[in-house]
Parts: sequence; C-alpha cells; structure tokens
Amino acid sequence: MRRRSLSSSTSRRSPRAREGRIVSAPYPARVTSIERAQAVLAGGCDSPVRSGWGVNHPMFVQRSAAGAYAYDETGRRYIDYVMAYGPLLFGHTHPALVTGLDEVAKHGFVWGTTHPEEMRLAERIRAHLPSMERMRFVSTGTEAVMSAIRVARAFTRRSLILKFAGNYHGHFDLALLNAGASAHTSDASASGIPEGVMHDVVVARYNDLESVDALLRGREHEIAAIIVEPIVGNMGYVTPVPDFLEGLRERTRRYGALLIFDEVITWLRFGPRGAQDRVGITPDMTTIGKIMGGGAPIAAFGGREEVMAVLAPLGGTFTGGTHGGNPFCVGMAHRVLDLIEAHPEYYDEMRARAERLADGIRAIFRTRDLPYAVVQHESIVDFKFRAGPPNRNYDDALAADKKKYAAYYAAMLQRGILLPPSQNEVMFVSTAHTDADIDATLAAIEASIGDR
Ligand SMILES: Cc1ncc(COP(=O)(O)O)c(C=O)c1O
Repeated sequence: MRRRSLSSSTSRRSPRAREGRIVSAPYPARVTSIERAQAVLAGGCDSPVRSGWGVNHPMFVQRSAAGAYAYDETGRRYIDYVMAYGPLLFGHTHPALVTGLDEVAKHGFVWGTTHPEEMRLAERIRAHLPSMERMRFVSTGTEAVMSAIRVARAFTRRSLILKFAGNYHGHFDLALLNAGASAHTSDASASGIPEGVMHDVVVARYNDLESVDALLRGREHEIAAIIVEPIVGNMGYVTPVPDFLEGLRERTRRYGALLIFDEVITWLRFGPRGAQDRVGITPDMTTIGKIMGGGAPIAAFGGREEVMAVLAPLGGTFTGGTHGGNPFCVGMAHRVLDLIEAHPEYYDEMRARAERLADGIRAIFRTRDLPYAVVQHESIVDFKFRAGPPNRNYDDALAADKKKYAAYYAAMLQRGILLPPSQNEVMFVSTAHTDADIDATLAAIEASIGDR
C-alpha cells in the first residue's frame, strides 16, 4: 500500500499552513466558547461547578489571570474570590512562584525515584505538622484522602468509615456520599457508585455527636476511621462547636478507630500548623493539598509511624503514583514554604483585608436590615442567604436561598466581581487582594444586594 507522503498532504493545505503557521480549527463566528466547550469537553468543563449549574448562569470562560484578578475572554477584569477553590493563597501570579521556573524544571519534571528534595519537603512539613510522622506525596487531595482511608482500613483491619454530610473529600466513591462543595450524587444506578460502597460508610451530621453515636451504636467495633474537615470550607464556612472534635477524638480512641483530619483546604490557609494546632487536637492521620503546591498539583497523606507502616514495602497495603513526589511539584512546594516562612506578616495582611471585607458586608446588611450572618476566619469570608446564625451543618447549608444567591452571583459578575458559582463554597482572600479591591467589592455588594 502506498503511503501518502507528508509533502503531498502539505500541498493540500492552505497557503498559511504551508508557510508553517498554526491554523486553528475554523469555528464559525457564531459558535460561542461555551458551545465550543460543550462540543469537546464532557458537559463543557472538567469539574461541574465550573459550568455555572449551581447558579443557573452561563459558565465563566477565563482567558488569563494575574494577582487578585481573573480576565474573561474579552479581556475584562474581575476581582477573583474563587482563587481556584483554595490553592491560591498568594493570588494568581506571585513572582516567587511564576518566575525562574526553568530552575525548578532543569532536572526534569518526573523521575520515578526517591530524591533528597522530597525528603527535605517531608521534613519541613513534619516540622510544622508533627502528627505526620510518616507521609507520602500524591498529586491531588482526592488521592490523599482515598489513600488515607485505605491505610486506616488496613491498620484497623476494619471497613466502616464515618464521614460527615457537607464535608468534601474528593471524588472517589465513598467520599461522594452526601458530600458538600459542588458534589452531586445521583442514586447508585446513575452515579456509577456501586451500592456495595454504602455498606461500609455512614454519614453523620457535622457538629452533632448524637448523630455519630446513633450511627455507631452496635457497630462500634466495625469502625476503621472517622474522617472530618476539622474546620469546614465546603458547606460554606463552618467551625466546630466546643467538644465536637474532642468527642470524635475520644470516641475513636475508645473504639480503636483512627481519626483522620482532612486539611486539604485548611493547611497553610490557617498557617503552617494547620487547623489541628488551632483546635488543639492531634489526629492519627492528616491529608493536605491545595495551597501546598502554589498551584502545582501536589498533596500528601500521613500520620503515626505505626499506622503508615502498613504501606508496602513495610506492610501489605499499596498506594503509588507515577507523579507522586515528582521533583517539579516538590520544588514548587518548597517555594511555597519558603514564602510562608519568610513572610509571616502575610497572614496578618490577609486577615486585615478579610476583616475589612467582613465588617463592610456586616455594615451593609445592618443598614438594609438583612438577617444574614457574616463569618470570617483568617482569609476566609462567607455569608449565606439564610436568616439566623452561621451554618453549623449541611442542613443549614441546604436551607440557604439558592435563587437569591444566583441573582447575587450574576449581579456581582456584572460589576466585575468573580464569586464562587455555588453557595457551598466560600470567598478566599489572598495576599494579592488590596484594600482598594476590598472597597470595590463592597461597593459592588451594596449595589448587587439592592438588585434582589
Ligand atoms: C477538604 C477537601 N478535601 C479533599 C479535596 C479534594 O482535593 P482535589 O480536588 O485536589 O482532589 C478537596 C477539594 O476541594 C477539599 O476541599
């Protein structure tokens, strides 16, 4: 069979292509980016929240980003409070993270071997989070939590996991049951999550030890682990009530189970010692991710030495990953820790901006007699369209008025403010947000709340 030569196929191309220029696919002008996305990406996106389905609004198509700002396709600037759903503690393009990357990449991106910088990173993390006596690097928070759960099951030789409604731990099977954030799980036949998975997981109410006890009654000696976001960022911002986490710590000890803290959002957001230091409770295992890579995909799981010893080659439990601990992402994580360790004042600055934002929103609500509680902790700011105290659990989160949030989201976008397209998410303030950004945001809120 004769093969067509490259040159003969070239001769059929347009003159521009023959000159060696890249010719993009000839989309007719009337095809919008959203239609184009839907024609090639499943549902038009890689993660459903991005589609705008939570606010019944067309998807935000982003062309670029810098500092505190996201830019849409027309080049219009928006003050960005999504911040990639948490990783961007320093905004989009902090010079310490985006310059000199050839230095980070000069020995390659991935090796498939263990290396000293990976050891040094683990030592640095353990210095901040001593509960992670041994750890492993992976690429995403989902992998970190999935691996931690397998380790906990292997260590305890039990299967049952207790999790909380409205916490989000990634998109592996059991994590999605009644999960917060933008997760949505249909019944087993439609979701792809086998019925069998439900036998080994129970879902309790956050901040409610009675619901924990009710679910564990009679199954106390089946429980492998309780996994919890110690401070939650996935059903709005929710803090633990006094004695809740203490109660989980006490019960896991009493039943011979492990306590896993999912600090994928909270580690580095609340400082290098994480939420576990703030709440004064030491978990058996911890998962971290998001901020630690400065935007590059790196996460980790770890815990007590004897627990992590179940992992092969010491034990019989397997986790692995082609990209786990790769030198590029490890190099980025070192840069993040370098920045944080060199600039403790960053936290004060972010807190001051977040307080300015939260106080401003409270003042607007007071003037307009709006009954919404505004919460702020470090660089997280949140309020929901629901009267009464801040969210304490997922029932509260689900009671918020979705239509009002959707209208508010659209009105804010029109005024150049990019909010998370779901009321389960929170606003993240970064080191890049300025007082002027906060004041512009407050002006937009004042006008948009009036649009209701
Ligand atoms: C607390 C928490 N755990 C785990 C995950 C999953 O992380 P990833 O999206 O990197 O898989 C997330 C993501 O939002 C999270 O918020």
